[in-house]
Amino acid sequence: MTFFNLKEILSAKQISDRVIELAKKIDEDFAGQHIVLLCILKGSFVFIADLARAITVPVTIDFLGVQSYNGDTKSSGVVQITQDLTTSITDRHVIIVEDIVDTGLTIHYLINMLLTRNPKTLKICSLLYKPSKVIKPVDIDYIGFTINDLFVVGYGLDYKQYYRNFPGINILEKEENDSI
Ligand code: PRP
Repeated sequence: MTFFNLKEILSAKQISDRVIELAKKIDEDFAGQHIVLLCILKGSFVFIADLARAITVPVTIDFLGVQSYNGDTKSSGVVQITQDLTTSITDRHVIIVEDIVDTGLTIHYLINMLLTRNPKTLKICSLLYKPSKVIKPVDIDYIGFTINDLFVVGYGLDYKQYYRNFPGINILEKEENDSI
């Protein structure tokens, strides 16, 4: 496996400030309601942990395993469900929590699949949005940051499953030695 030097484009502080703003907006929009946050595994596990702790309306959290990049830098174009929800979303206010909307193929697939389960409302919250790569346009209700056409890692996002634990959002730069 080739490792890269990373160049940070969004710091942990910038992200946490924005997460608090997103949570405030969600609190306002859902005042007096209960919501279900759906963590789209694996990438959104860090974002949802911070977002959920900043939201003050009552939330439940469920997990949906989805993959299409198979650890690579390009979408395979085929969205695979690797793990289903364990709770019903019927008649609930649901927010899909994504780390990134890139081509839009994943979120488009998820919306269609989840609408068949008849949620009361279905909203989308994505930390990152890359409009230049969209193949399937989708309205995103809560966007953290709009970014250029860059492959990014950290804060949950991976390259070949690595770098998810980095606290900021980074681009891959020069190669280091192959070590694995
Ligand atoms: C990433 C990311 C989104 C999706 C967005 O998942 O977490 O779910 O790609 O890309 P798209 O808009 O082009 O469909 P990935 O398949 O890499 O799985 P992972 O979350 O386990 O890393």
